[in-house]
Amino acid sequence: MGFFSFFFKKKDNSALEKKDNSTKSISDKINKDNFLEKNSNDNEKNSNYKILNSINSFQNTTNIDDNILKEINYKWESTEEIIDSIISETTSNNQNDVKLIEYIVNLIDSEKIELPILPVVATKIIALSYNTKADFNEYQQIIQSDPVIALKVLKLANSPYYKGLKDVTVLSVAISRIGLDGLRELVLAISIKSKIFQHTFYKEAISNIWKHSLLSSLIASRFANYINIQPTEGYTTALLHDVGQIVVYHSVQEYRKFYKISGWPDSTFVGRVSASIHMKLSAFILNNWNFSILQIDAVRVHHIPPAPLSSNLQKLIFLSVQIAYILLKNSFDSDNSILINFLEKNGINLSEEEFNKILLKIRGEFESIESIF
Ligand SMILES: [Fe+2]
Repeated sequence: MGFFSFFFKKKDNSALEKKDNSTKSISDKINKDNFLEKNSNDNEKNSNYKILNSINSFQNTTNIDDNILKEINYKWESTEEIIDSIISETTSNNQNDVKLIEYIVNLIDSEKIELPILPVVATKIIALSYNTKADFNEYQQIIQSDPVIALKVLKLANSPYYKGLKDVTVLSVAISRIGLDGLRELVLAISIKSKIFQHTFYKEAISNIWKHSLLSSLIASRFANYINIQPTEGYTTALLHDVGQIVVYHSVQEYRKFYKISGWPDSTFVGRVSASIHMKLSAFILNNWNFSILQIDAVRVHHIPPAPLSSNLQKLIFLSVQIAYILLKNSFDSDNSILINFLEKNGINLSEEEFNKILLKIRGEFESIESIF
């Protein structure tokens, strides 16, 4: 089944009966066609749920402003609501865009959507990162369990940014050279890139989304402390904020089969559809992965400027996403005063010297992680 597996529970499909004829016919056909073979990896799914549930119970003990929670009302809307809202928001009148949007939303409603599974290594690392007493040995055990990740950790320790006088060949030495903070981020990045950010056809588009996600996550991690967010929480949320886009690109394969389209639709078209639907899809996926309501909410609106009552996590993700766009567009040669002002507007006050120091670190980490793939 490749990188994705299904993990939906069967639900009552009576809601589908209320749809208008055009959406109903797609839903009916999707339900009848058994082109998406179910291949639920229950063991992996259950162990992920267990780990993430323990994270959530930890997070629920932290202080969250009641006013912010009142503002958050995450739910997956009905097909009609989603299609209506997406079509009213989108500037495109292209009927093909609408057709693909309808197809994807109906796949979700009829529980046939193919969703990525959060890799086991990633869930273990996330869980461990909330344990302040966890030491190098525990991280080393997780890394050793996956030879691909272990090799990449060694490679990173020998990359120009981390390189010492001698090449490292022993994992424990590599881990201490990178340091725990960098290590957590690296292992999460490797496992998520290798298991989720892949596509047989839209390689360039997926690679661009990956670069943007990785840079956003490093930015979120480095600025998290300034806005009272745990760096790991900021990092993980930012790393996954665009995961809905990956699902859109993967749905195209089934969309082609369904409508008997030969060849692949061009990536500009898929990108346009993705732009209009991916925030809702990312939130839907993080909800399925049992992430906290604050993380789901931050992802659900990551392109929308935060309001005064927005959570700090939402502010952090929004600004990290924006800064990542600017830095990638300008190859890191941006006018820093604009970025410093932008941070200030979002509640983070830094001198130019402090900002430059952080940016240098982010750039070093970004380029070294990029170099090992
Ligand atoms: Fe996005």
